[in-house]
Amino acid sequence: MQTSVTTIERFILDQEDRYPEATGELSNLLYDIALAAKIIAAAIRRAGLVNILGKQGAQNVQGEDQQKLDVLANETIKNCLKHTGRVCVMGSEEDEDIIPVPPESAVGKYAVLFDPLDGSSNLDVNSAVGTIFSIHRRVSMEGRGTAADVLQPGCQQVSAGYVMYGSSTMLVYTTGQGAHGFTLDPTIGEFLLSHERIITPRVGKYYSVNESNFGRWDRGVQAAVRGLKGDIAEGVPPKNSRYIGSLVADFHRNLIAGGVFLYPSDSKNPDGKLRLLYEASPMAFIAEQAEGSATDGMNRILDIVPDRLHQRTPLVIGSREDVGFVADTIRRVSSSARVSGGVTSPAL
Ligand code: AHG
Ligand code: MN
Ligand code: MN
Repeated sequence: MQTSVTTIERFILDQEDRYPEATGELSNLLYDIALAAKIIAAAIRRAGLVNILGKQGAQNVQGEDQQKLDVLANETIKNCLKHTGRVCVMGSEEDEDIIPVPPESAVGKYAVLFDPLDGSSNLDVNSAVGTIFSIHRRVSMEGRGTAADVLQPGCQQVSAGYVMYGSSTMLVYTTGQGAHGFTLDPTIGEFLLSHERIITPRVGKYYSVNESNFGRWDRGVQAAVRGLKGDIAEGVPPKNSRYIGSLVADFHRNLIAGGVFLYPSDSKNPDGKLRLLYEASPMAFIAEQAEGSATDGMNRILDIVPDRLHQRTPLVIGSREDVGFVADTIRRVSSSARVSGGVTSPAL
């Protein structure tokens, strides 16, 4: 039996020790999120037993059906964060507006954005889902947090991460000192260090995309995906395809095994489907820390300055050379289509 383990608490404290000016507030905020993750993981494990699968009967701000667990995860995270004195404002996929901490709570110096349950359409078929979070330092000067605190570009994140509720529960996070993974040991209720300093392969094995959208993509995206399969002369050695429809699970597999995930814009979703602030940006921070990259096809995801909480963005993310191939192909083919008068959309 193993007797020496590194808990997430120990690891975060060790990292913080390198910064004499650190107050411990960010470390504590990360434990708060880890606690919320454990509560959500427990609910998901019992989901088939206690009749909490299925639709809530309402739609969220984006007009999507809310699953009961979407609501439970959202409430759990808000409850774990709002009274801690570490947060001034939150933003969630499931809430239309920003959520300043309640008047009776102390106001902290961080703004937290989250997708409480990602991939929730997978819940009723017992497949992997996740939670994604992004943390910014507040920029407003006084009072409760404001929209300015959450509308910051991804390069200003102080921390980001995700939790994957899969065959085991894993939490992967970064504070800008590498991306590190922890696996929940359910017997002791602790996240233990299992993947220190994750480095993603420069070239991956997999490509991950919802190919049912092929006919709605512009020619640049179509050429890029055909190139990933090795179907065109300018392509790459053929890759294998893997797609679950859960960003956390699709991203995590490619992070570890190497690969590229893309959710481009299409004629139905002209800005792409995924949300910049609580899906693309935190994943981009993790990807870059693991020596991968993330782009919307034209711009580095972490450089995009948001103007709305629920803003969407096209996303190409994963192994550096594969992301480069996809972005280069999109630009090359889209601009040649433009020159020859073909119909193509501007970015992706
Ligand atoms: P959410 O469950 O938070 O709404 O996110 C679903 C997202 C993302 O997880 C996934 O990559 C994508 O939607 C899948 O979309 P398609 O079903 O269109 O492929
Ligand atoms: Mn999501
Ligand atoms: Mn969600």
